[in-house]
Amino acid sequence: MLIRLIYVSRAVDTQTRTLTNSILHKEHYWNTQNDITGVLCEGQGVFLQALEGERGTVTRLYARISADSRHKDLELIHCESITRRRYGEWSMARASLSDLDPQTRIVWPDFDPYSANGALVMVRIDALIAQGRVIDAPLSSENG
Ligand SMILES: Cc1cc2nc3c(=O)[nH]c(=O)nc-3n(C[C@H](O)[C@H](O)[C@H](O)COP(=O)(O)O)c2cc1C
Repeated sequence: MLIRLIYVSRAVDTQTRTLTNSILHKEHYWNTQNDITGVLCEGQGVFLQALEGERGTVTRLYARISADSRHKDLELIHCESITRRRYGEWSMARASLSDLDPQTRIVWPDFDPYSANGALVMVRIDALIAQGRVIDAPLSSENG
């Protein structure tokens, strides 16, 4: 059974692309091997991550991520059974939540993932994807 889980957390240290790249470097491989797909949004001091995959696999991965000392204040935003993946193209895409981006400031002036519900957060993530703000390569080119 497939599920999608979304959580938010606060970065412990200053967020840098190098840090996120190093988080994702190993994880891309693990996720690919374990049929996990999703998006990791980062910026404004927070991580916002959507994880999709088999329920047991996602549950165990979330437990591991929760114990990771590189972030804190994890809150589970959303968890549902799904029949189709929403982020099936990516073993873990990365999207920027930068508040420096003019479009972000106009369209989402007060976006706070800690107070937004799951539906709104998914709309937000989809908007980032639609704006072409996804940085990482799709699964197909990784495998190829
Ligand atoms: C924001 C954030 C997102 C992460 N996303 C993933 C992920 O998608 N897949 C993964 O395997 N590990 C992810 N990790 C890393 C895990 O927390 C953990 O370090 C890694 O799975 C290795 O676990 P282990 O040291 O217990 O083997 C993430 C860590 C952080 C801080």
